[in-house]
Amino acid sequence: MTLVNAWYGGRPYSAARDHPIQGIRAMDINEAIAARRAVREYTAEQVDEATIKRLIDAAVHAPSAVNQQPWGFTVVRDQHALDRLSNEAKAHVLATMMGNPHAEQFRAHLSDPRFHLFYHAPVLILISARSELPWGVEDCTLAAENLMLAACAAGLGSCWIGLTQGFLNTPEGKRLLDLPDAWMPVAPIIVGHPRAVPPPVPRNAPVVRWIG
Ligand SMILES: Cc1cc2nc3c(=O)[nH]c(=O)nc-3n(C[C@H](O)[C@H](O)[C@H](O)COP(=O)(O)O)c2cc1C
Repeated sequence: MTLVNAWYGGRPYSAARDHPIQGIRAMDINEAIAARRAVREYTAEQVDEATIKRLIDAAVHAPSAVNQQPWGFTVVRDQHALDRLSNEAKAHVLATMMGNPHAEQFRAHLSDPRFHLFYHAPVLILISARSELPWGVEDCTLAAENLMLAACAAGLGSCWIGLTQGFLNTPEGKRLLDLPDAWMPVAPIIVGHPRAVPPPVPRNAPVVRWIG
């Protein structure tokens, strides 16, 4: 498909020719959107550094408010750090969940010492807003979706692990990953080679109101 994009200097833009994310196999965008799943079973195989850099490259092509590009990336491959983060985040959710019906449904899982919040994935990529700019959360979330779609196109699995966000935003959580004080963790995304890809999750019919 060729289209003229004024922001691309007015010259014809070809997604196939000009796509700057090298090394990620071309996958139709609709295919990637439909195929991406929250993957919760991984092999022990590492994700190499070049691939991780390509995923981050895909992430930073997301739009951002006033083009501030406020995202910062923390790549955690140290399994001891991931084990510790999992344990401390579980304890944090259990200690703070009282009366929160969304969290309560996870009590049995979180109380099970065998349950690993990161499903033993080989890498966690934490996307943080580097300062409290307006729309930092939105910008990092858009970057996260780009990263997850690029992972899918590269044959990798991914999953956003929201249950760690509460702990990651405490001083102890930030210290565990040595995050700069100003950084606000937004999107903890695990990535790895899927051992199994879950079946498609049915979508509810969208609630749409048309005006005009
Ligand atoms: C903000 C957010 C937080 C999530 N947190 C978790 C989590 O803590 N643990 C988990 O296993 N899945 C988590 N997920 C994955 C969702 O459960 C999953 O996306 C949803 O069930 C739909 O499945 P699909 O992604 O395969 O379409 C999270 C997803 C989002 C967007």
